[in-house]
Amino acid sequence: MFIKPKYLLLSSMALLGGSATASAQHSFLASEDVAVFYPKGYDTSQHSPSPIFLRELAPIGDVPTDWKIRPRFSVDNGRSIAVINTESDVDLYGTGEVTGDLRRNGTKIQLWNFDNPSYQLDNGSHLYQSHPWVIGVRPDGSAFGIIADNTWKSGIDLTDNVRFESDGPAFRVIVIEKETPQALLATLANLTGHMEMPPLWALGYQQCRWSYNPDTRVKEIADSLRHYQIPSDVIWLDIDYMDKFKIFTFNKEEFPDPKVLNDYLHSKNFKTVYMIDPGVKVEEGYFVDDQGSEADYWVKDENGEVYEGKVWPGACHFPDFTRPEVRSWWSSLYPDFMAQGIDGVWNDMNEPAVFDVGTMPITNQHQGGDGLTPSSHLRYHNVYGYNMVKASREGILRANPNKRPFLLTRANFLGGHRYAATWTGDNASTREHMELSIPMTITLGLSGQPFNGPDIGGFAGDATPELLANWTAIGVYFPFVRNHSIKGSVDQEPWVFGDEVLDICRTAINRRYKLLPYIYTLFHEASVNGMPVMRPLFFADVKDLSLRNEQKAFLLGNDLMVVPRWAEKTAMPKGDWKPLALEDKDDGYQAQLFQRPGSIIPLANLYQNTEEYNTDSLTLLVNLDTDNEASGIIYEDACDGFGYKKGEYAEYAAKAKLDGKQLTVSLSRVGGEMGTNPKRLRIGFVTDGKITYSPWVDSSTVTMKI
Ligand code: NOJ
Repeated sequence: MFIKPKYLLLSSMALLGGSATASAQHSFLASEDVAVFYPKGYDTSQHSPSPIFLRELAPIGDVPTDWKIRPRFSVDNGRSIAVINTESDVDLYGTGEVTGDLRRNGTKIQLWNFDNPSYQLDNGSHLYQSHPWVIGVRPDGSAFGIIADNTWKSGIDLTDNVRFESDGPAFRVIVIEKETPQALLATLANLTGHMEMPPLWALGYQQCRWSYNPDTRVKEIADSLRHYQIPSDVIWLDIDYMDKFKIFTFNKEEFPDPKVLNDYLHSKNFKTVYMIDPGVKVEEGYFVDDQGSEADYWVKDENGEVYEGKVWPGACHFPDFTRPEVRSWWSSLYPDFMAQGIDGVWNDMNEPAVFDVGTMPITNQHQGGDGLTPSSHLRYHNVYGYNMVKASREGILRANPNKRPFLLTRANFLGGHRYAATWTGDNASTREHMELSIPMTITLGLSGQPFNGPDIGGFAGDATPELLANWTAIGVYFPFVRNHSIKGSVDQEPWVFGDEVLDICRTAINRRYKLLPYIYTLFHEASVNGMPVMRPLFFADVKDLSLRNEQKAFLLGNDLMVVPRWAEKTAMPKGDWKPLALEDKDDGYQAQLFQRPGSIIPLANLYQNTEEYNTDSLTLLVNLDTDNEASGIIYEDACDGFGYKKGEYAEYAAKAKLDGKQLTVSLSRVGGEMGTNPKRLRIGFVTDGKITYSPWVDSSTVTMKI
């Protein structure tokens, strides 16, 4: 059954043209603005079915002769290459999880998922996830996107044109052409699928560290969050809850009754997320290892022997997630585990990371199935995490079929947003990494992964009070908001550095919770049209070239600009973006927020967690445009479950108009079949430097004199 890896031989045989470059051997249009190009010698069995696309691309016609962006294919020293010429005035973005600038021109990365502590290895040129995806934005704001549909080890080089280079056989290239980058991302999502709506609790503030143990410490953290009135929703359990790091088990001394612990946390309106790694401890009598060994589910070495690699528990077996029967078995492990009152799952170390050697040998063998041919780890490495989370998500759904799964993964691949949210791995508690977390999070969003964020406060090393305050003050506007830190570092919960930092963190997190109606609407938008939650500033005006490099200030949705307090001289979109003064007193750390002219932003009352949250009372922040009008959208549903897919949601259009001195704002129902709750509304009229509030009214129309 097992093949010897012959990838190099294969690729050079397949591309009989030697090192000469050639345009595509054949191509087709998959839709009006999506073209698919195949190199000579393309072998479907080496690439198909693609993990990227929801369904296989089908031809609707020929690529028009005036189609601008076309790859040239070649092979050089056994490496398969696709080069796409771009004009020098094109700004490049995307390329997935990367260090460095938001604008990617001149950069070079490897697509090889890797455990990369503090992003120090190879200068951070390969991290935990791979996205063979590049965006080009022309000066006129039109945009193209390029996908190299290839899981084999490869790289992207943007130092001169766009160049994909791979250790595997020749691969196809897909080009999307759109009038704006926003339309481009919508098309990417049509092709690769939309992120499913997460439960609302996953958008709340989350507290983590490696590790909170024993169970009394977990309770202490939960109690402290409530005591200090830090709105929060999730407590995370890192590896130490396990018995000797054996997945799907609990340490009997430190976590004698996880159900009781989880019940306690639930009684305080917390949800729990527990870690599950892919490495299964080699141990006779351990049920996971016994089951996997008996059924022969493990990845094999080049000789067809079961592969063993060292991770936390010592020698481990690794499930071969390319096999459908292994994914099905893996998913069957979740129901009993989650029955302990576990709400979400954290898949870590799934590049996969292997101690001493980094990852498993490229010559290891995967069996495939469901159309995937047996092949080497060189082909399937980059989708190891992807296939794992595909199975984990299924398992979580098996455990709780009526709840929306929440799954966080460290490793992933383009298209993997369908299964899991991601975080940006092991960053460091440094100012540099805090600043870097902004372009990283935006770039992942531009690479089809809307739900992501960094370890706030930084993972490796010791956070300082200043760093935690600054990072929390911007982190609350990221899609995923979790404070996390490495074993052995100083504590970095919001209260440990004294009252000033506590107050700063609390104010920032309060802002997050007040903004939840707006943020939840953005997640809904991402789930229907693929728009990132956190967006680059240039999305405010794609023709304004002065915004293209901005990577400190960013947009949350379309209507809110976030400028970190420490950021100097950030770019500013044209128009009357108004500063929002959300508190009476400025602590000097909160991000400066600016509201887009012509927009309405809904704010909820302040709740301490999303169990208490509701939108019966809404403050509608209004910044009028030059026509004295403004509008916004508010999406609501049950915050969990799947009723929304059957129409159980409510979508409201908010409209504001100034007539003389009278400002009228009204909410009208524009979608969904969920019953409408009576609303209490008030206007927050935004002028330079202050917000003037109307009295509350029990009505869907509210007026005020201004
Ligand atoms: C590596 C992960 O990146 C980190 O977040 C986690 O705390 C450790 N593994 C321990 O599980």
